Amino acid sequence: MNKITIAIDGYSSTGKSTVAKQIAKVLGYVYVDSGAMYRAVTLYALQNGLISEDDFNKEALVYQLDKVKLSFEFNDVLGYAEVYLDGENIEHDIRTLEVSSYVSKVAAVADVRQKLVAIQKKMGEDKGVVMDGRDIGTVVFPNAELKLFMIASAEKRAERRYAELKERGDDITYEAVLKNVTERDYIDTHREESPLVKAKDAIEIDNSDLTLDEQFDKILQLVKMTVEGLE
Ligand code: DC
Repeated sequence: MNKITIAIDGYSSTGKSTVAKQIAKVLGYVYVDSGAMYRAVTLYALQNGLISEDDFNKEALVYQLDKVKLSFEFNDVLGYAEVYLDGENIEHDIRTLEVSSYVSKVAAVADVRQKLVAIQKKMGEDKGVVMDGRDIGTVVFPNAELKLFMIASAEKRAERRYAELKERGDDITYEAVLKNVTERDYIDTHREESPLVKAKDAIEIDNSDLTLDEQFDKILQLVKMTVEGLE
């Protein structure tokens, strides 16, 4: 079977990574969570005092970018690669509301994007990859054979993210999560550098009222049709 590149973009908490992992697993493809890379750089900025509520030392972050050592290690149990910063597994640390509340600012920095996009393009060189993010179908893989653009209402997304964070034991309110979701939507769609936009050839999927199974079936169908179209 021909291997293709699958680009999944969309707003935060639209379940992109959930379906991307499912699809990668059934196809035996590599799953790459590009948002985790922006989160990792944000964690670095927080750990090194470069960003706080009222200050963001972008110049220092850009100056230190070469020191941000990102790597990925495949986790057999989970079935996908986890992110490491300086050799330390940071999967848990990058999913906090604190990192979520700063990540859009870090992701708006052109030099940060340049560094991460270069890594992402390299990871997709051999095809057989499912990558999710905000600019995958527009910037990272403009020639991807299948591009999906996921949407859902802000309230639905906040509900899902709130449940996830609660499950982990984080002490947060639904209102704080909803505020974070809408703020990130705004910054992600209004930034100058690679804003979140639907690629012209992307297929929009509104999953507000789809179950995970329905969503998975629908997307797998699209993958099959795309691969068959190439044969
Ligand atoms: O998918 P996520 O919520 O983990 O992504 C975290 C942030 O990173 C998101 O608010 C926007 C940014 N991001 C981006 O700008 N480009 C990407 N390709 C992926 C994520």
